[in-house]
Amino acid sequence: MIDARITAMINFVEAGSRVADIGADHGYLSIFLAKTGRADFIVATDKNALPLDAAKKNIAAAGLDDVIETRLGDGLQVLSVGEVDTICIGGMGGALICKIFDDAPNILDSVENLILQPMNAVDKVKAYLTEENFYIADIDLAEAGGIIYEIIFASRNAEKISARKKFETSPLREKYLALKKEKLQRVLSEMSKSAAAMSSEKYLQIQNKLNAMN
Ligand SMILES: C[S@@+](CC[C@H](N)C(=O)[O-])C[C@H]1O[C@@H](n2cnc3c(N)ncnc32)[C@H](O)[C@@H]1O
Repeated sequence: MIDARITAMINFVEAGSRVADIGADHGYLSIFLAKTGRADFIVATDKNALPLDAAKKNIAAAGLDDVIETRLGDGLQVLSVGEVDTICIGGMGGALICKIFDDAPNILDSVENLILQPMNAVDKVKAYLTEENFYIADIDLAEAGGIIYEIIFASRNAEKISARKKFETSPLREKYLALKKEKLQRVLSEMSKSAAAMSSEKYLQIQNKLNAMN
């Protein structure tokens, strides 16, 4: 089923884009993106045969087999340079997303836009994108199944940063920041039980993050 998280990802896809949906699983992002008519080309991929078969079935049931290509394979390895300009990755851990990019630098170098919804390590993903010369153009928040997710729109094109407004105006922003703060405070309070943890770099980083949020 399509949810607010997938909808928010689709909303970042620009008209006329050529899109790869990496780790498509059920294929819903590709299917609902195809239904918007916004993308010129869509390829849905997965590393595992079972989810890709599920995607193929859902794509066929939606009558979209001639609109969405499917490919079995690891990360960006199934793509060739210049084939797509936008990569969508949702529902994976932040470290795995960074690894997928590290494993195919030629493909990463060749795309303009990334639409990412990491399940964790969101700050790590943002730092990685900056290192790889992407601008965080916008961030949206979406609530699904009682969890608030960050959806990152990153681009090689600095002009797209001016569009950065979804996070600041999101009705979920206050709730999300309060939850994030609470989580960081919990971690700090656990770490405070050990002198070694309290004098660690990580403790200082969390303190700085919390101060920046106040
Ligand atoms: C939790 S599902 C996310 C599905 C969908 N993208 C979403 O956001 O709802 C993760 C999918 O990624 C696939 N996957 C994991 N590692 C992958 C990789 N290295 N390359 C491609 N697909 C991968 C898994 O097989 C699984 O189907």
